[in-house]
Amino acid sequence: ILQLTLAVIKPDAIAHPVIFKAVHEKILLNKFLIVRSKELSWRREDSQNFYREHSGRFFYQRLVEFMSSGPMRAYILAHEDAIQLWRSLMGPTKVYRARNTEPESIRGMYGLTDTRNTTHGSDSLESANREITFFFPEFCVSHWYQQ
Ligand code: CMP
Repeated sequence: ILQLTLAVIKPDAIAHPVIFKAVHEKILLNKFLIVRSKELSWRREDSQNFYREHSGRFFYQRLVEFMSSGPMRAYILAHEDAIQLWRSLMGPTKVYRARNTEPESIRGMYGLTDTRNTTHGSDSLESANREITFFFPEFCVSHWYQQ
């Protein structure tokens, strides 16, 4: 059974076409079905809203600034176990851990810092549904699963 996840290629990677292409090709190589995809830019308010659960964390301000600093590309991806598969392809959030424990992962190869870490992926079914709706308000998740 196909599961949906929300994946984002962040502004640090979009700024470098070679890195964007490498990450996009990882999506294709792992045979994700690209259900939707679009390039977009956030206003500061969008960034604050999306990451509101992190408000209060020491990295919140820099995260908000970074995610509204330039264009990104969002995907709705479908695959068996899509959430877990995309997270394992990304590797650990922290770039030091990514480079040392999973050097072949996306963040291990392309992550610049703990904030500028190339990609985002939903961490649970609930956040996937919430994040898909945040990025693609016209897309109906429950309708897709009922097809
Ligand atoms: P993301 O998967 O988008 O979810 C939260 C983001 O916070 C994370 O990726 C990073 O970009 C950012 N972040 C910055 N610093 C940290 C940190 N020390 N720990 C966790 N996340 C961080």
